[in-house]
Amino acid sequence: MATTTVFDIVLFGGCGDLSLRKLMPALYRGYAEGSFDSNSRIIPTCRDAETAAGYAEILAKSLQQFLSSDEYDSAVADSFMQLVMPCALDITTVDERWKSLHKLFSKDAEQSRIFYMAVPPAIFGITCENLSQQKMINGQSRIVVEKPIGYDGVTASAINDEIARYFDEKSIFRIDHYLGKETVQNLMALRFTNVIFEQLWDAKSIDHVQISISETVGLEGRAGFYDNAGALRDMVQNHLLQLLCLVAMESPNKLDANSIRAEKLKVLEALRPLTGADVDDYTVRGQYVAGEFNGDLVPGYLEELGKPSSNTETFVAIKAHIDNWRWSKVPFYLSTGKRMKARSAKIVIQFKEVSHRVYDGSVGQMTPNQLIIKLQPGESIQLSLMTKDLTCLETKLKPVSLNLNFSDTYDNFKSDAYKRLILDVAANNPALFIHRDEVDCAWRWIDPIIEQWQQSAHTPDLYRAGSWGPSAAKTLIEQDDRYWFNGESDQ
Ligand code: BG6
Repeated sequence: MATTTVFDIVLFGGCGDLSLRKLMPALYRGYAEGSFDSNSRIIPTCRDAETAAGYAEILAKSLQQFLSSDEYDSAVADSFMQLVMPCALDITTVDERWKSLHKLFSKDAEQSRIFYMAVPPAIFGITCENLSQQKMINGQSRIVVEKPIGYDGVTASAINDEIARYFDEKSIFRIDHYLGKETVQNLMALRFTNVIFEQLWDAKSIDHVQISISETVGLEGRAGFYDNAGALRDMVQNHLLQLLCLVAMESPNKLDANSIRAEKLKVLEALRPLTGADVDDYTVRGQYVAGEFNGDLVPGYLEELGKPSSNTETFVAIKAHIDNWRWSKVPFYLSTGKRMKARSAKIVIQFKEVSHRVYDGSVGQMTPNQLIIKLQPGESIQLSLMTKDLTCLETKLKPVSLNLNFSDTYDNFKSDAYKRLILDVAANNPALFIHRDEVDCAWRWIDPIIEQWQQSAHTPDLYRAGSWGPSAAKTLIEQDDRYWFNGESDQ
């Protein structure tokens, strides 16, 4: 049962896509399950007074749109909306309206005060400065910063420096919503509470690891942002590298933020740099062209973008290595793409073959064990094992799968990463948030890849929307006699 908390949360960018699509539904879910009480205040800011005045209507519509029909309850929504106090404010300009914002806070100085920056990073600095000038930052204040933090290492540092002028590191919560997904946290539970995995989790037993996030969506109205970012900055620098850290890190001695972050940082520091020709050999970037998805024709990236050309990648695959004792010579294959054949996020741990074959070839193919952690859709953990085929008199072997499907185990299992993470901010628990050092280190690995891509005459490989990405991604893994798990033969 969730514990009840109370907080004030200001959503800077309260009318934006992130607030309406993700943050408000997350807050609704937290409220509906009783995780915070009705003395909490939710304060979305909107630039113009008219939008702020009509906010209740906008919110009601978007809750209905973004909550599933079994979650949305009009009575709960009405009572939730009583906590929502929209505020008209141009956050880059200091004027009287900041006073109205101040008045909306609880008078209780001990109440958590959360400033959620659902705005572009370019205005993080000025927002913090104005908060400070208006004396709104107290001992209970925390700031939540959304990715992207920067465009490269230099810009990320500049953003982090600006925020650090007003908030100390303890009060800065850099969010990566993948860390709030229940199955991602389960990865730590699986690794650090089960001796069978703990003993096998290294180069002696593991052949390679695959971490992939495929999306079926395209630009979703974010063309301006996306064309300047691309898949490497949008997904790999943060979500994929964070997942890689959780797979590869040593066991923290405690589950507190400092211990976890210190272990993740060591993994990032041990990532083998990819520079110069290695970038060409170990990375693949792709861009989708028009194709078919679920029987419908979908446009290519350039058509969605409305530009005649762009070198922005909508797909990336990388073969990475972690240079330490545990992972020596174990490749980590990372991949992510938009407009792929299916939506899926998963981690595949491929174990090695048995060291000696006691069965001869007549028993059929021996498949090495695989641990597959599906993050979405349908959160599950599967372990494939070789068994004797019980239906044959003669000895034949057959791979079977032990399946832990969370929706079978937990009735009504629904996880909402944003809800979980916002409640963690309210409870001042930073364990699932990213330290500045991790951001810097991740960029140090990403920057040389981008530099090499920019210098290269090579442009992204094209792939059809609705496929599994460019054929070069298939070659990247198949040249090592390994295969992408799941549907990848269909490129
Ligand atoms: C965001 C990216 O961080 O993650 C988006 O900016 C992407 O481009 C999204 O679509 C994917 O998140 P999820 O939880 O839907 O897999």
